[in-house]
Amino acid sequence: MKNKEPILTCTKFDKHFGATHAVNNVSFSLNRGDIFGLVGENGAGKSTLIKMIGGECIPDSGKMIYKNSEAKWKKSSDALNNKISIVHQEPLLISSLNGADNIFLNKEHTKGVIIDEEETLKKAKLLLQKYPIYPDLILDKNVDELMLDEKFIVEILKALSYEPDILILDEPTASLPKKSSERLLNLLEELSKKEKKTFIYISHKLEEAIKVCNKIMVLRNGENVGILEKEDIEENKLIKMMINQDYEHFYPKKSENIGNTILQVKNLNTEALKNINIEIKAGEIVGLYGLMGAGMNEIALSIFGINNDLKEGTISLHGKKMHKVEVSSMIKKGVFLIPPDKHKYGLFDTFTVAGNITIAHLYEIFPQFLISKSKENKIAQKQAAKFNIKYGNIGQLVEELSGGNQQKIILARWLFKECEVLILVDPTVGIDIGAKREIYNLLRDLTKKNKGILMVSSEINEIVGISDKIYTMRRGRITAELEKEQITQENILKNIL
Ligand SMILES: Nc1ncnc2c1ncn2[C@@H]1O[C@H](COP(=O)(O)OP(=O)(O)OP(=O)(O)O)[C@@H](O)[C@H]1O
Ligand SMILES: [Mg+2]
Repeated sequence: MKNKEPILTCTKFDKHFGATHAVNNVSFSLNRGDIFGLVGENGAGKSTLIKMIGGECIPDSGKMIYKNSEAKWKKSSDALNNKISIVHQEPLLISSLNGADNIFLNKEHTKGVIIDEEETLKKAKLLLQKYPIYPDLILDKNVDELMLDEKFIVEILKALSYEPDILILDEPTASLPKKSSERLLNLLEELSKKEKKTFIYISHKLEEAIKVCNKIMVLRNGENVGILEKEDIEENKLIKMMINQDYEHFYPKKSENIGNTILQVKNLNTEALKNINIEIKAGEIVGLYGLMGAGMNEIALSIFGINNDLKEGTISLHGKKMHKVEVSSMIKKGVFLIPPDKHKYGLFDTFTVAGNITIAHLYEIFPQFLISKSKENKIAQKQAAKFNIKYGNIGQLVEELSGGNQQKIILARWLFKECEVLILVDPTVGIDIGAKREIYNLLRDLTKKNKGILMVSSEINEIVGISDKIYTMRRGRITAELEKEQITQENILKNIL
């Protein structure tokens, strides 16, 4: 094709973290207007690679030619000043500031020395108008009051506010509702065509990457295992390159042995929920599905005792009504929740890998509270191995792990102990295909031990593939209960729209 104008060439990029060879001799080049996909399993080196391009991480070796001259960034502001900006996998916002202030942090609009809040908000609103990926976003709300998906939108707007020539997006749609994802992808296409902006797009959602990217590079164990051009991109090919084996779409077999009811919710009413009735039986995976905001998360949190605006209704375990639905009593009775936003509810960034796995179980491991680090590490290592978690050493900080491996740590923690009922909210967000399959198998194994599972997922394929029974929801109400051959995408869509 003519008119190809190179903008970035990386040659033999290499990066180690201790013994981990995170990025191994990776070369590729980008032309203006490319939407360059970057895929690979958790821990493959995607985030590390883009951090080197964005000046957040210094390569051990390698050369970068940007706009025809060699670039050696020492810090992220070097890259930003040269119009390369990154939307991170985890929002890195200042929680005490509002959205507008976060967007314009370090480039504040001031009146003398004082930040001009009015002007900042006005500019932020204009930016949102220009890039309307989530038009309802309230920009003068403190970001710690925002939902995870809204925080992502703030991150994206912040990156766009630099008017970058290369915008790097690290799993931007992992937590976005479908509508916003679509708007974002459309925006990328539009900006690449009209303004020749260049994008590097990391995603575990292959379908989206295939739709939007004109080439895709696959990383495996830090190495570039191939770059496919638009006309050669196929999902199966990509998956095979990612995991180095043939892959057939695979969910474990559905339950053949459904037993008695373990957990029953009767006539539950809260601010957001209307007359909810749900049963989770032994051996059963129950799916909850609806459009974003239809109430699935609220059900999960209410059962676990996090929502305390419970107005009416009862929750029974093995036929016995619970008097108090509180987190501590639910945990004691063996009802566990794997929450949606792992940073808000789960992960302790400043703890080690081992500490994050054992934190909920210290009393059982060390009933006398004489904590032995070596014993804790040994137990954590065993548990981490069960979940195939990739880390350098068990004593390293969890924030150093790749996003997907962090997600698996939460699973490893809660599946450490026997549970009766496990509630999961989007447990496979940001997790690669191999690890997803491992998680589905783990869930199935639990039901074979007569446990009950309630799973909220925003992926319709996943909910169809994994559930023995599905409750569909619309605006706080349950609209249908589907079982066996009733479980089809068509039936689900009919009941949620
Ligand atoms: N700061 C760090 N210190 C130590 N090890 C690190 C650090 N950052 C990344 N690693 C390791 O480097 C490897 C690559 O990690 P990276 O975050 O680049 O993976 P990724 O492809 O982005 O994965 P994911 O899809 O899970 O986000 C992993 O083994 C990770 O544990
Ligand atoms: Mg990553």
